[in-house]
Amino acid sequence: MKFISLIFFLSLLSPEEPSTIIQFTYTSNHQMYSLLKRTAAKCSHISQVYSIGRSVEGRDLLVIEFSNNPGQHELLEPEIKLLGNMHGNEVLGRQLLVYLAQYLCSEYMLGNQRIQTLINTTRIHILASMNPDGYELAASEGHLLNGWTNGRTNAENIDLNRNFPDLTSVLYRNRRSRHYRTDHIPIPDAYWFGKVAPETYAVMKWIRSLPFVQSASLHGGELVVSYPFDYSRHPQEERMFSPTPDEQAFKQLARTYADAHATMSNNDTERCGASFYRTRGIINGALWYSFAGGMSDFNYLHTNCLEITVELGCDKFPSEAELYPEWKRNKEALLSFMESVHRGIKGVVKDMDGNGIKGATIAVRGIRKDVTTAEDGDYWRLLNPGTHILTATAKGYSKVSKRIYLPHNMDKAGRVDFVLKKAGVERQEKPWWWNYFSQSGISPPTWLLRNI
Ligand SMILES: *[C@@H]1O[C@H](CO)[C@@H](O)[C@H](O)[C@H]1NC(C)=O
Ligand SMILES: *[C@@H]1O[C@H](CO)[C@@H](O)[C@H](O)[C@H]1NC(C)=O
Ligand SMILES: [Zn+2]
Repeated sequence: MKFISLIFFLSLLSPEEPSTIIQFTYTSNHQMYSLLKRTAAKCSHISQVYSIGRSVEGRDLLVIEFSNNPGQHELLEPEIKLLGNMHGNEVLGRQLLVYLAQYLCSEYMLGNQRIQTLINTTRIHILASMNPDGYELAASEGHLLNGWTNGRTNAENIDLNRNFPDLTSVLYRNRRSRHYRTDHIPIPDAYWFGKVAPETYAVMKWIRSLPFVQSASLHGGELVVSYPFDYSRHPQEERMFSPTPDEQAFKQLARTYADAHATMSNNDTERCGASFYRTRGIINGALWYSFAGGMSDFNYLHTNCLEITVELGCDKFPSEAELYPEWKRNKEALLSFMESVHRGIKGVVKDMDGNGIKGATIAVRGIRKDVTTAEDGDYWRLLNPGTHILTATAKGYSKVSKRIYLPHNMDKAGRVDFVLKKAGVERQEKPWWWNYFSQSGISPPTWLLRNI
């Protein structure tokens, strides 16, 4: 693998149609870091890199971020993350994310409207390698020699996708009690007595520190998108449909990737061994095979974030010649997935003085999973089209409910704001929404049917 010094240049042959030129080779850890740093430097107005921690052997867990305001959360701007190489020997996702970073930077500069719109409205975080130590081992063997498991774990032999707090078991243990929770389940103290890999710890801290709305973890070994729960609701049953309350939203998210991928949703029964033709390339994780301590279940049960697992293909370590065709197969899927965060609803929960309320909860009737508001009172809720009843609550305030209708053809998230009164305060003469609609100078949206 030669060192690549010139990553971007415009095609001189067709100046009217400039395009991003990417070297479709494997990148060592060292090359990956320098490539990501140079990409962020080239696009410093929309990108930066930051480290979320170090691996066992001291390698950086380096994130590249894209946003029209890098380093800052903006009110109502959704945040997403993409992770690769959690299993060190599943290397395709890592490369695709390195290419994606270069593509986003370069296309933004070239004036690609779609990419500019995406980056102007979304904060995107990309961790190309969560397990650089495992990669080092797998890459030392290379495409031909690397088997099914060498380099899968971190340098302490820990499988990172079994190392997260098992909140799914907590949920299953409690589900017979009336007030069991399916969201924001705390991490049990006992978890910290076990071995927590530094890579797992770094990612947990990261997951908790930003208001992520959706996420994709890229793996290899199959060609399918799986979604939580990954742990079977009857732990003795290793293959059992174990849906979350957000089954519909997860299916939609998984469909978005699978349908936009060149071949994932095709009806061919002979793939890597398993057959997913009935569901056209998507599957509930536990129905495929059950495991505890996974990252996606943790995202769902501990935070607001919905994470899917993308299995990119049968070959965990494809030949270098496959990298460009794989980029072509996955590019539209990656873009569609990122754009799909602008679905459902979003809004701000405020008090009567117009201050955002942090930590307020938004409940959707019939879906036992509340989301909470971020620092400035903003929230995002992936929801499928239809009629929904939402309730916002916060400690010390009286709750407010709204019925909304989300049409099928919305191309961005519906805006639903809430103003909460301090509990016990008398009702004002103007309706609660007066300030919002009079100040913002807009008429009530048509999909807001009525307030209850
Ligand atoms: C994105 O934002 C930049 C900076 O504000 C602006 O120049 C550009 O026109 C925007 N692009 C799109 C497609 O909205
Ligand atoms: C997919 O292929 C299988 C087996 O060839 C067939 O039984 C099934 O009807 C096909 N499904 C669709 C949706 O075409
Ligand atoms: Zn994997």
